[in-house]
Amino acid sequence: MRPAAGRDYAIRFMHVVAIGAPRSPMSTETAAGSASGLCPAGIDPYHPGALVDPYPFYRRLRSRGPATYVPGRGIWLVSHYEHAAAVLRDYRAFVSGQGAGYTRVPDHGYRYPLIDNDPPEHTRARRSVQNLFGRAAIDELRPGVRAAAVDLVEAAAAAGEIDAVTALALPLPDRTIRLLTGIQPPDGATMATWGDAVGQLGAADLDPEMVRIATESLEWLIAEGVPALPPHCMGRTIMEHGGDNGGLEDGRERLMMLDSIWLAGIDSSSSSLGNAISAFADFPQQWDLIRANPGLIPNAVEEVLRFDAPFRSFYRRTVAETDIGGVPIPADSDVCVLLGAANRDPDRFADPDRLDVTRADAKSHLSFGTSIHLCIGAPVARLELTELITALAARVRRFERIGDAVRAPNQAMRKYASLPVRLVTD
Ligand code: HEM
Repeated sequence: MRPAAGRDYAIRFMHVVAIGAPRSPMSTETAAGSASGLCPAGIDPYHPGALVDPYPFYRRLRSRGPATYVPGRGIWLVSHYEHAAAVLRDYRAFVSGQGAGYTRVPDHGYRYPLIDNDPPEHTRARRSVQNLFGRAAIDELRPGVRAAAVDLVEAAAAAGEIDAVTALALPLPDRTIRLLTGIQPPDGATMATWGDAVGQLGAADLDPEMVRIATESLEWLIAEGVPALPPHCMGRTIMEHGGDNGGLEDGRERLMMLDSIWLAGIDSSSSSLGNAISAFADFPQQWDLIRANPGLIPNAVEEVLRFDAPFRSFYRRTVAETDIGGVPIPADSDVCVLLGAANRDPDRFADPDRLDVTRADAKSHLSFGTSIHLCIGAPVARLELTELITALAARVRRFERIGDAVRAPNQAMRKYASLPVRLVTD
């Protein structure tokens, strides 16, 4: 329906999932006033104000019905839980094969084996890596992630006043993905820059510089990352054996599968960790509950994911005329499923704007999507959240904000650029 933006080779290559952080920290006010998002009829999800605090916008949007068309962008917004879940589940009517982000993957271009693909190719590709995220793999990963979380929390507690983004939220996923994949990027800062750039590729208003940096990260993976993989690691299983069952085709499919797992796992998790700390700073009684009863931590992990979905949205395209909750949607439409809006739908979650670590149905959030594209890395992300919250609960009595927290004006990810807090320890 709408013209696709930035359809060059690099974007197709890197168009995997939207992750990233702003290149330079900005104040919340600056972020809100600096970007040039459209706001046709006040319903643009990429409007700077809606990026900094999307929840009032989501409330308004839900009141407009099951699907709202944004003429300036040519996209349909879905904000109710019921309809968001229905779109994601109906993968035959709402397809991913033209890309799951704002920019379409051109028909003649390469698609990422999982996120930009539909059955039967998606099924084959997913089966080839599914076991690499199974219980045994997570059990193997746990000690390393636990040690990293304890290390980072000890250093942060010793410092007392920290930026939770640079002290905790960025380094833990960096260490985790190294352990998971075997890929050893030059340093955490470079990885953060690459993640930043790749995230911008998922943005509606694309900065060409991000394409250059993102391409650089792929070139590094090919030239240095893959050749230096250790003997036994996920990276080698994918590159040399075609995944757990050998189902991945040799060459580019293997490379792009590894690249997508590598890049998808950094900033998404980082966002969730920052969002979690922020939520506990705002709801100290909930933190007290966790400290009094660490058995609540698994449910608290689901609740922080529900409360602030790291990915703002994923896209689907319609193959034929269809409807969303009775609203007719033409063929070849771009449908934007707003995950954070669905997670705060009062028809699905009671008192949705309140963090409640005892919420019985927290796990039914859509932050990992649902159905055939349900996040394959969810067990890894849950492990990171669990280990970080556990380590913090053992040391930190409360989180005190010590300055302006700055939300990244990122069009793909809801995350912090900086989150200054004091860790009050026992
Ligand atoms: C809190 C952290 C994370 C969040 C919120 C998240 C969210 C999501 C969501 C919503 C999807 C579905 C996209 C769609 O329906 O189009 C997805 C898919 C995916 N995620 Fe994650 N993710 C996270 C962490 C990770 C990690 C750690 C990895 C890898 C190590 C990963 C790898 C992937 C991959 C490869 C897919 C594509 C799956 C498919 O299409 O079958 N994610 N993620």
